[in-house]
Amino acid sequence: MAEQTLPAAAREWQLAARPQGWPTPADFALVEKPVAAPAPGHILVRNEFLSVDPYMRGRMNDVKSYAPPYQLGEAMQGGAVGRVVASAAEGFQVGDAVLHGLGWREYADVPAAHAVKVDAEAAPLQAYLGVLGMPGLTAYAGLLRVGGFKEGDAVFVSGAAGAVGSTVGQIAKLRGASLVVGSAGSDEKVRKLVEEYGFDAAFNYKNGDIAGQLAKAAPEGVDVYFDNVGGEHLEAAIGALNVHGRAVLCGAIAQYNDTNPPAAPRNLVQVIGKRLTLAGVLVGDHYDLQSEFVAEVGGWLREGKLRFEETVVDGFENAVDAFLGMLRGANTGKMLVKLG
Ligand SMILES: NC(=O)c1ccc[n+]([C@@H]2O[C@H](COP(=O)([O-])OP(=O)(O)OC[C@H]3O[C@@H](n4cnc5c(N)ncnc54)[C@H](OP(=O)(O)O)[C@@H]3O)[C@@H](O)[C@H]2O)c1
Repeated sequence: MAEQTLPAAAREWQLAARPQGWPTPADFALVEKPVAAPAPGHILVRNEFLSVDPYMRGRMNDVKSYAPPYQLGEAMQGGAVGRVVASAAEGFQVGDAVLHGLGWREYADVPAAHAVKVDAEAAPLQAYLGVLGMPGLTAYAGLLRVGGFKEGDAVFVSGAAGAVGSTVGQIAKLRGASLVVGSAGSDEKVRKLVEEYGFDAAFNYKNGDIAGQLAKAAPEGVDVYFDNVGGEHLEAAIGALNVHGRAVLCGAIAQYNDTNPPAAPRNLVQVIGKRLTLAGVLVGDHYDLQSEFVAEVGGWLREGKLRFEETVVDGFENAVDAFLGMLRGANTGKMLVKLG
């Protein structure tokens, strides 16, 4: 494909202020920057879809963590897929579809070593940000490797209607779980989990009494809990886990915007009597499973056995709304931003 005419300037979202508690639109700034031809070893990508993810909230804080904080007055980062519009790197041509980490901008100058070519024929481009991407691998590695899931296990997953959670529940079912229970934040999401995603039971945590609703859905207890939420959910799950049960601590979205430490779980002593394992998972540790994951999950997708949903917000200028909406549960499945 021939080189494309580049625009003189394009927009990026920068961090304007560090939020205390819930972020607001004032914490972000939409800034126009000149677009230059890529430096040697780089590619210029016109982003088509951006990912907005819960972990980005953590990167808005100035604290040491597994991912470095976003810098004030600089473009934020995140997963994105797009097409190469100019290449100064061997192995990349104009028109190639790529996945990379310089989201939150319309055009990204990406070091070729940090971009991965993806097959736009095998799956829609944006699937590489969701079910076939980081959230999908998180679900796969977290449940199967970290959680030691085995056929016949009863599984509870929180955040069950989201990108990671909806995949966890379906993988558990496809791998022979005896029971899959999910929790989510609306009656419509709960209905979908049972009627469309094949969960055995689901409940709306906003109706309260999480432990009581879980006990009703899983009267014999659960063997694996996949935690996307933390706090009261984790406490309820510790109470419901059977002897030698495992909890995979993947996320704690209930507390990302809290300014006070969480009150729960208050029942950690049960870990001893029930010989429970509580294990954290970071997807970055599990990229060695990538080809196994793509083969198995890709196979289920092709066979129509695994479904995935996307909530797509149109327009680069609406990326912050998409991010804030995701934190409040506006999404079912993966929350994405589609660029014009
Ligand atoms: N450890 C890792 O490597 C790794 C990798 C990826 C993701 N994660 C974690 O996995 C979790 C899910 O991520 P995702 O990308 O799949 O996001 P997601 O579930 O698609 O979106 C976030 C969801 O969180 C739910 N939520 C918000 N506030 C909540 C609260 N107070 N209590 C319960 N649920 C709440 C909302 O759904 P409702 O309507 O149901 O409230 C919202 O849709 C997050 O905690 C994330 O940090 C971890």
